[in-house]
Amino acid sequence: MAAKVVMKLGGGLITDKSSFKTAKKGVIDSICSEISKIIANGHSVILIHGAGSFGHLLAKKWSLAAGVVDEISEQQRDAVVKVRSDMAELCGYVTDSLKSFGVEFAVFPPSVWAKETGRSFIGDLDIFENTPKDIVPVSFGDVVRVSGGAEFGILSGDDLMARISLEIPSVTHSIFLLGDVDGMMNLPPNIDGSRLMPVWSAEEHIETSHNSEQDVTGGIELKASRASQISRGVDEVWFINGNHPERISQLLDEGSTIGTKILG
Ligand code: IPE
Repeated sequence: MAAKVVMKLGGGLITDKSSFKTAKKGVIDSICSEISKIIANGHSVILIHGAGSFGHLLAKKWSLAAGVVDEISEQQRDAVVKVRSDMAELCGYVTDSLKSFGVEFAVFPPSVWAKETGRSFIGDLDIFENTPKDIVPVSFGDVVRVSGGAEFGILSGDDLMARISLEIPSVTHSIFLLGDVDGMMNLPPNIDGSRLMPVWSAEEHIETSHNSEQDVTGGIELKASRASQISRGVDEVWFINGNHPERISQLLDEGSTIGTKILG
């Protein structure tokens, strides 16, 4: 059966999060190569990516997530323009790679079609549904317009994942590709005794070490919460190590792989 896959490349996977605007092009290439195989096998893909060091560092420096602050509004507005163009640049690395593997795509930057932040952002999701089957719609976490005086805010790719996975009909798989971990771990990955949880449901407690120093959106907690919401409407919701993209095909072909299956 042809799968309809919504996939997010986490910012920590495709960039070096601590080094300003450093894309991991080798990782991007290996995932885009895998996407080309998935499409050749008759499946369809909607692709979302995060920001990593193309978004979080400047967004943090100028407090963009909390909206406009009078004293620094001018610098913030400059930063909004800069982060949007940096995100377009990162998206360009992704789409250049897709192109090099012969995958057609259409880019939909949230700054153009979405407003408001969080799970109930406003925006017409039909653009993702109306794209022809062999063309991959691509979108990403971005700075968007916000009403009520805040002027702007950060819309996370995890919120895009949730809405797209649940509202586009017949999505079969919603996959979060992570950097450096095989899936959801019971303890932070750097701690002794940390092990992969092959299945996870929201009732199970996990200990995390979210780095809010760098991260203006919600880190693994936001991902876990969105994934759990998605699993109430989509059968196959997974956290998979994006450094092993062949696991995606394994999941589609064999019904399981190394990773964490999220249960509702
Ligand atoms: C954040 O998007 C967007 C900006 C900071 C501009 P995400 O929340 O999807 O990014 P990652 O995956 O955490 O890097």
